[in-house]
Amino acid sequence: MLYKPVVYVTRSLQEPGPTLLSKYCHINMNDSVIPISKRQMVEKAKEVDAIVCMLGDKIDSEVIYSAGNRLKLISCYSAGYDHVDLEAATNKEIVVTNTPDILSETTADLTFALIFAVSRNVVKGDYYVKNAKWKFGWTPDLFLGTDVYGKVLGIIGLGNIGTKVARRAKGFEMDVIYHNRTRRYELESKFGLRYVDFHELLRRSDFISIHVDLNKDTYHMISFDELKKMKNTAFLINTARGKVVKEKDLVRALNKGLIAGAGLDVYEEEPVSRESPLLKTSNAVLLPHLGSATQETRSRMAEMAAMNVINFFRQIGPLHRVN
Ligand code: GLV
Repeated sequence: MLYKPVVYVTRSLQEPGPTLLSKYCHINMNDSVIPISKRQMVEKAKEVDAIVCMLGDKIDSEVIYSAGNRLKLISCYSAGYDHVDLEAATNKEIVVTNTPDILSETTADLTFALIFAVSRNVVKGDYYVKNAKWKFGWTPDLFLGTDVYGKVLGIIGLGNIGTKVARRAKGFEMDVIYHNRTRRYELESKFGLRYVDFHELLRRSDFISIHVDLNKDTYHMISFDELKKMKNTAFLINTARGKVVKEKDLVRALNKGLIAGAGLDVYEEEPVSRESPLLKTSNAVLLPHLGSATQETRSRMAEMAAMNVINFFRQIGPLHRVN
């Protein structure tokens, strides 16, 4: 590769990303923890051959169409790419790549962290002890939760992450049902899963875990009507995308006790606004989009995002294209 492409990295990237990139490219990296503004993104996109972007960066049609002809590649440091206008990128012949599957096990772990946090009062218990509220030692009815083993887990979306959640659930002796665009017969027999229609999944599950991409079919797939169909003892877990759930309706369902609780890692708007009524709910555990947040996984993602850039310009090696 004689020409060294110029790459803009929108937030600091874990090693080995920067080291790999700097062997083959000129890197320009925003080292700040603060995301760049839309205006800065528009300006940067005109000056570089490739962008390595993060989930919070909105690479919409304005950024893409004002980029001129230099920008050839958008490498997403994430599995999801709903923050990039794929149609506009494709029209401008800009290749978009992502970091698929390598974060699935880690995100499935966090899904279980939320399942246990909501059902066994992990967060409330921690607050209670640290705030010196625990006065009487072992207490027969202190923070009684609900069992996870033996319960019905309903998985919406049996892709890479959903499958890993199903496998873990079997270890906890859960009865796993799923709904997916297409039936996954091989996984049904491998893990003992049962395919059900969406409404049966809503009605029968004790825990529902969402693992679909965000697209026009999944936007607000769970709103008040769906929440009303759930058991009032059931929990909703979302580690996929916030906009799959209509948050206003979820808050209403939580406050009215239509469902027992929710464990969320993703939101309609991120970060969640200080005014969001979700913050006032007593039966939701809220995390700041940590699904893939382990040292090991973020470093594998950084390597893959960097290699997607390098392989694209060298025209050899695998490229995780999404368009
Ligand atoms: C995380 O949400 C990702 O898509 O990588």
